Amino acid sequence: MPRKVSVAAWGAALFISWNAILLLYLMSRPKGPDATDLTAHVIRLAEEAETELEKQKGLLEQIHHYSGLLKRHPPRPNAARGLELPQRLANVSIPSPTPLASDPEPMVIPILVVACDRPSVRKCLDSLLKYRPSAEQFPIIVSQDCGHAETARTIDSYGDAITHINQPDLSEVPAPPEHRKFQGYYKISRHYRWALNQIFRVLGYKAAIVVEDDLEVAPDFYEYFSATHSLLRKDPTLWCVSAWNDNGKENLVEPKGSSILHRSDFFPGLGWLLLRELWEELEPKWPAAFWDDWVRRPEQRLGRACLRPELPRTRTFGRKGVSQGQFFDQHLRFIKLNQDPVSFTKMDLSYLLKEKYDPWFLGQVYEAPKARAEEVLQGQVPGGRTVRVEYSTRDTFKAMARSFGVMDDLKSGVARVAYKGVVTFTHRGRRVFLAPPKDWAGYDPSWS
Ligand code: UD1
Ligand code: MN
Repeated sequence: MPRKVSVAAWGAALFISWNAILLLYLMSRPKGPDATDLTAHVIRLAEEAETELEKQKGLLEQIHHYSGLLKRHPPRPNAARGLELPQRLANVSIPSPTPLASDPEPMVIPILVVACDRPSVRKCLDSLLKYRPSAEQFPIIVSQDCGHAETARTIDSYGDAITHINQPDLSEVPAPPEHRKFQGYYKISRHYRWALNQIFRVLGYKAAIVVEDDLEVAPDFYEYFSATHSLLRKDPTLWCVSAWNDNGKENLVEPKGSSILHRSDFFPGLGWLLLRELWEELEPKWPAAFWDDWVRRPEQRLGRACLRPELPRTRTFGRKGVSQGQFFDQHLRFIKLNQDPVSFTKMDLSYLLKEKYDPWFLGQVYEAPKARAEEVLQGQVPGGRTVRVEYSTRDTFKAMARSFGVMDDLKSGVARVAYKGVVTFTHRGRRVFLAPPKDWAGYDPSWS
């Protein structure tokens, strides 16, 4: 029996037997003594029956909803209890969630939207829905923390177009007293753990794109992830694909560079694809707070890189959030969203695989003419579209980065967008590699 039918049949059986029990129960109740009492009694019975019917309807809707989700992607055998099949269905054969190589059906990749108390999540959901090529391939699951009623209503107003789940633990997270002001970061971290467990362990998806509620997406957001997903699977030295460029300001990117993609040792987050295997690796040691900086530490990264676009496929409008709005005003609000869609799935992106990319990239960087930062800034470099500016200390890196207007902060010794220590951007139409010397020995986590 096909799974959808079996789950629906199970639901229907449950519905009928519940109503039969209800009827028996109502019929067996003692009758009222006189006519007025009897009328009141009948009215109450009718009301009770109506409430029960409403409950049943809700239950059926839930069953349909989950059977839809399950059909699109059956849970793994060890999926948590909430979605386990009834015992008698347990040995019915479940279609494999992984399409065979010859199977033209594309992989289902849910979008996990992380929400809390901002009804402006509407802007995020509107853009996700506007460009979504297929509801089956990209189910949108909004996980809400914080129990904020207005935000919940906003999310529910989308009806069947999205799924709304709620992080159940709204208590304060235990934190050392000096971290009291960081409670928000503790809650975010707890929410991420819960939500990603729902996605990978309960619902059994094999990959997911994480989007925060203050992000809007570009027209080719889905196309970008569809095309790069297989690279992430193929290349074990990749651990994420991100839609974000930390230096994605207009004057720092190639204006017609929509199709340009890069590898990055810096984990960008902000609209990112991960595979279940990575979640299984990180979940047991997931941190209590500051999850993104924790992810960036060498013990987690293990030398792996993310893909990132030259032109961002997400943009943040979250001025008011857990961190100060200052960073937003000075930096984030200038990051440009790509508006020129690229058909990535029709392109050969294999150049991004490590064995091809690394030799090519190092050739580009170290064969480019070397110049001093001042020369480039003053436009005194003759000829050549690309140029290399070298730094060898943390302080020279920071000073140069600032003078070009690129991000100068380092996390676990890695600068934003850096690959092999090289920060790539444009300056007045010229490609600039802010690079360490060729004999570079790797990142120094003490650089911060
Ligand atoms: C910053 C990062 C964000 C990261 C977070 C945690 C940027 C622009 N943003 O958050 O990517 O996840 O630090 O280190 O770099 N949220 C909850 N529960 C809460 C509060 C917030 O789930 O109690 C959710 C929000 O809905 C949002 C996310 O957590 O999806 C980040 O919250 P936000 O308020 O936007 O904080 P940022 O300072 O941007
Ligand atoms: Mn934010």
